[in-house]
Amino acid sequence: MTAARLTARRAGPLRGVVRAPGDKSISHRALILGALAHGTTQVEGLLEGDDVKRTAAAMAAFGAGVERTGEGRWRIEGRGGFSEPADVVDCGNAGTGVRLIMGAAAGFELSATFTGDASLRGRPMNRVLKPLGEMGAAWICRAGGRLPLTLKGGGLRHVAYRLPEPSAQVKSAVLLAGLHADGGAEVIEPEATRDHTERMLRGFGAEVEVREEGLGRHIVLPGGQRLAATRIRVPGDPSSAAFPLVAALVTPGSEVTVEGMLLNSLRIGLLDTLGEMGADLTVANVREEGGELVGDVTARHSELTGVEVPPARAPAMIDEYPILAVAAAFAAGRTVMRGIGEMRVKESDRIALMAAGLAACGVGVEEEPETLTVVGAQRGNHPVAGGAGVITHGDHRIAMSHLVLGLASDAPVSVDEPGMIATSFPGFVGLMQGLGAEIATSSPPERSDRG
Ligand code: S3P
Repeated sequence: MTAARLTARRAGPLRGVVRAPGDKSISHRALILGALAHGTTQVEGLLEGDDVKRTAAAMAAFGAGVERTGEGRWRIEGRGGFSEPADVVDCGNAGTGVRLIMGAAAGFELSATFTGDASLRGRPMNRVLKPLGEMGAAWICRAGGRLPLTLKGGGLRHVAYRLPEPSAQVKSAVLLAGLHADGGAEVIEPEATRDHTERMLRGFGAEVEVREEGLGRHIVLPGGQRLAATRIRVPGDPSSAAFPLVAALVTPGSEVTVEGMLLNSLRIGLLDTLGEMGADLTVANVREEGGELVGDVTARHSELTGVEVPPARAPAMIDEYPILAVAAAFAAGRTVMRGIGEMRVKESDRIALMAAGLAACGVGVEEEPETLTVVGAQRGNHPVAGGAGVITHGDHRIAMSHLVLGLASDAPVSVDEPGMIATSFPGFVGLMQGLGAEIATSSPPERSDRG
């Protein structure tokens, strides 16, 4: 391993039209559902990030034919079920990958051992193991439900499972297990989370009933269903598009358009929040592609104002709070993000790392167990000093967020472990450079003297 870092520094305005990489959530699901289906599924626009490539390899290990036929083009030969893998399944950094694959695998008479990198081995798997256990799956794992773990599937029965935390990963694991459970499965979610699994199951010909009732959203998957192969066009990932869009908002003179971005209402809480902060954002050319709304989103440099983000919006922007915190650093006044405790169990403790990184860059922050507050400067002042080397704990979104900060701060900002950016956004540096950003490999900058 090299100790290379990436450093971002202020340059001219950002300008241009780009395409965000394929949506990570939809890419994982395309591979998994394709492997569970009967026949050949063709995928276009698949995110070729490290996380998704791990899922592709895992699907091959479980017996599917998986072939890359061109850039972003993949063919999955589904065998209608999983067979026992010959070796340990290593999901790398991917929480979505491992949790969804465990759900899918639980439906079959097999034993499979899962592991991941140091970050993934530290993340809680109990949230998935609990409902899978209620359905009849068994496992052996490290204390606290951590990886590596060996899962034993097969003989599953119906569950009606109320999600204790808003998690699309847990919902999806239960639904995928339900495909091969006697009587199917039902998930009740008190707060709506991203619904790609439900939508895509329908795309593969399954019946999924969704009804809103007093205490939440009931997702009912009847048992005994057979998935039929299909074609999937993966839309642009709003969680990746967020980085060039916010970079344009905070860099004077900028105008950036991201084409073909997914506009699913359960994914675009960030656009609503930035709009409330006074961001000049326009959405054009809205169209339907593969059962999802997509559009072209343009951001122009804006004078932002701090806001209170409603906690109920958290599931629709849970991965975007790090980059929102960067926008907030350049906004006038306080931005208060409440009800974001789930941020602490992502690829890193994102509340702690954003608070530490922003503070190191001279931004006022207040950290509480479930809240992050960013204190922006007065309008018209140059609010962000920068000049820090930021520790990312190998978290791609912490790295990209601080690089965006460095594009508009007084002194350059550098991040460690930049290779991890490739888990979700392999072309990030090139795409940003193409817009005019100065981001380069470097040694850590000196801390600025802030007197
Ligand atoms: C995802 C769900 C979210 C999100 C993750 C992707 C998914 O996680 O943070 O990046 O594809 O289902 P949780 O289910 O833990 O909220």
